[in-house]
Amino acid sequence: VALRILITAGPTREYLDPVRYLSNDSSGRMGFALAGQAVRRGHRVTLVHGPVDLEPPAGAALVPVVSAAEMLRACRRVWRRHDVLLMAAAVADYAPARVRGTKLKKSARSLLLHLRPTPDVLAALSAERRAGQVVIGFALEDRDSRRRAAGKLKRKDLDAIVLNAPAAIAAPSSSIQVLTRDGRWTRIGWADKRVLAKAIVGLAERLAALRR
Ligand code: CTP
Repeated sequence: VALRILITAGPTREYLDPVRYLSNDSSGRMGFALAGQAVRRGHRVTLVHGPVDLEPPAGAALVPVVSAAEMLRACRRVWRRHDVLLMAAAVADYAPARVRGTKLKKSARSLLLHLRPTPDVLAALSAERRAGQVVIGFALEDRDSRRRAAGKLKRKDLDAIVLNAPAAIAAPSSSIQVLTRDGRWTRIGWADKRVLAKAIVGLAERLAALRR
């Protein structure tokens, strides 16, 4: 059955002045691989992505965004019309509290940046979901990984969470473990992100079938 799959990918950028921002090393590869695989499987794909340097997968509807707030707005606009969310984006957790309209000037004194938390896109979309919608989150943990990923699944009320090794960031391959709501862990060994994407889209299909 063809599904409508909303996929987020890449980093977000949180600007502090017209030319400077906070961000992270995410390349967008995992999300783009998911989108490519989902299109190949015959699904309808919307890909909401932060600034990346990747060839977009043919056949996906692309929605470029910059900040976490923009990603939330873009996702909210279309979430209702989708069956599955694959939240692979590395959303920045903090943004400068004040965005300056002109370039911040250098001085000899130390500078304190006041940051505020960004909206949690995954938690918001999960809380707003309608019956039958499947929500899959991602986590990147460097210690106490399984326990922390399990905590996120619970807190954000996810159907599954994909736990990445820290070496996954900006890399072409990764090793992942997937936790589903029933408490079961599945390990998928070190592989190219395109191979991992196949497994994750397969999981989304199975979870969506259970929900019908
Ligand atoms: N996420 C999100 N919005 C945010 C932050 C994260 O939607 N503002 C999503 C990510 O896309 C990912 C999952 O939430 O699917 C990761 O959970 P999170 O608790 O934010 O993990 P980390 O950012 O790794 O946070 P922590 O520093 O607590 O490990």
